[in-house]
Amino acid sequence: MESRASEKYISEIKYLKEEKNAIILAHYYQTEDIQEIADFVGDSLSLSQRAASNNADIILFAGVKFMAETAKILAPYKKVLLPDLNAGCSLADSCKSADFEKFIKDNPGRTVISYVNTNVEIKAMSDIICTSSNAIQIVQSLPPDEKILFAPDRNLGNYVLNKTGRDMVIWNGTCYVHEEFSLEAILKLKEENRDCKIIVHPECELPVRMVADFIGSTSALLQFTEKDQGKCYIVATEVGIIHQMKKFNPGKTFIPAPPKDSTCGCSECSFMKLITIEKILNCLINEKSEILIDNDMLLKAQVPIRRMIEISEKLGL
Ligand code: 13P
Ligand code: SF4
Repeated sequence: MESRASEKYISEIKYLKEEKNAIILAHYYQTEDIQEIADFVGDSLSLSQRAASNNADIILFAGVKFMAETAKILAPYKKVLLPDLNAGCSLADSCKSADFEKFIKDNPGRTVISYVNTNVEIKAMSDIICTSSNAIQIVQSLPPDEKILFAPDRNLGNYVLNKTGRDMVIWNGTCYVHEEFSLEAILKLKEENRDCKIIVHPECELPVRMVADFIGSTSALLQFTEKDQGKCYIVATEVGIIHQMKKFNPGKTFIPAPPKDSTCGCSECSFMKLITIEKILNCLINEKSEILIDNDMLLKAQVPIRRMIEISEKLGL
């Protein structure tokens, strides 16, 4: 019964996409059915690149608010819809604009690099944006003696600091999904599955990063599983990515890394999972829950995002 209902939603969504010249951009952390209906599935960097160049009139964003805001900033004349405006991000919300303004004032003379997982006000106060796909290269693109202020993810920040050795002051924010992975449970799993490689998103804490065979953004992790000769992976990031990993590697095994609290369901991002097929259909019908940003704020936030896109393009990322 449920699958017949979702088949009906899917055919209506396909029809409305054509009718309204809309595209669906979905992040890897969305549920499988949404990834399958999307026109493009990707990580934060590739989604922003796709938002900046497409011929659609409407972008329906299946992801969280900071991603839809980034799409709107890069495509201001398009209608950008987010099927549930409550789809926030614990990391973005850990960095409030008044506190961030003070942080910048307290650390003068530093180039402000903000992770894309920030609200629009934070982007507007930044010099360059980065994602987990390009954070190291963005930092390395600056002169070696340039002092950096990095926000808001302390784990990604420390990972980049260790890789680049640059002078960085880092905001103390974390993602509730990625800080929940249990080192003990991961090591136990590894003991039971010795052939499995541990692959880790840089938002994870240092002890988990230290046991990783590979660290990378969602798309880097996916590419690693395709190129690597191994057959089994313990995956320390949100479980949604495993859909693509299985799709591209049918013969391989993927085991979600366990969280510290086995009852919390924390390896799923509850914000990402607010988006459903039914909400996507309603959103396409009503064209409500549109992302609207004050024009001055949008123009300010556009500068550091475009800078990131230019640097990434130059480097072939
Ligand atoms: P990626 O940029 O690797 O897709 O990560 C986005 C994100 O929200 C991680 O929690
Ligand atoms: Fe934000 Fe974490 Fe969810 Fe990514 S997984 S959207 S960082 S709360």
